Amino acid sequence: MTIESMTEDGLTAEVVNRLGATPDPRLREIMQAAVRHLHEFAKEVRLTNEEWWAGIQFLTATGQMCDEVRQEFILLSDTLGFSSLIDIINHSHVEDMVTENTILGPFYVPNSPERAFGESMVEYQCGGEPSIVRGRVLDTDGNPIAGAVLDVWQNAANMFYAVQQPDVQPATNLRGVYRTDAAGRFDIRGVRPTDYPVPADGPVGALLHTTGRHEWRAAHVHIKVSADGYVPLNTHVFDRTSKYMDSDTVFGVKESLFGDFAPGIVDGYLVCDFDFVLARA
Ligand code: BEZ
Ligand code: FE
Repeated sequence: MTIESMTEDGLTAEVVNRLGATPDPRLREIMQAAVRHLHEFAKEVRLTNEEWWAGIQFLTATGQMCDEVRQEFILLSDTLGFSSLIDIINHSHVEDMVTENTILGPFYVPNSPERAFGESMVEYQCGGEPSIVRGRVLDTDGNPIAGAVLDVWQNAANMFYAVQQPDVQPATNLRGVYRTDAAGRFDIRGVRPTDYPVPADGPVGALLHTTGRHEWRAAHVHIKVSADGYVPLNTHVFDRTSKYMDSDTVFGVKESLFGDFAPGIVDGYLVCDFDFVLARA
């Protein structure tokens, strides 16, 4: 086929053909499929020049919004359900009893302080209900895993994570690394997490609003759980009472991760009992 006689489908085939020269086979597969689907999308919606340009401007603004702490492209991926799709694709093979994974989100900060069993992560007071998330880390046969590491982060009662308010909250507020005891038990102390909006002052927020969507996430505590010889888990425990369970703006909610923050017997704290089950590596 010559360039002059190029048709819509002929053009797609030509681009895919040229990408056939990519030496790395996995990159070749990804690039050829990406081009096929991108071209198919434009053909399906009969994309106009103006719409193509609006898309270019949107992606440019998304890139310009990014800096060391703000990752607008990941937010775009999250709010389009793409991050959750990747998560499901990569965890669909795990056994039923293993605790479900969910998305990481942009507010994870490594090297949180080590916290003792039952130590509070609260380093800044702005209200909220003191809460305990406690339980055991188990293998798939129900045996406790001693020495498992739980890397925890959550938002404050004012809805913000410490990393979002460097001039207000201490950097390690509501973050901590806990370890399970000999019986596989852990005891994490913080405040009841609140529903909160994802950063909506940029192009992704504008897209949410233009498409009639809200920017709210259902209340949750983030926990990464790891132990030698087991597949690491990156998950949340959600507050079952959140009004955003059915419409979490980043599609991260999974029913198996619902927890109950209920009045307990421990000194004025709400208690959420939750066990984590890890798969063997
Ligand atoms: C979070 O859970 O921290 C989060 C996830 C996706 C986008 C924004 C925040
Ligand atoms: Fe979060």
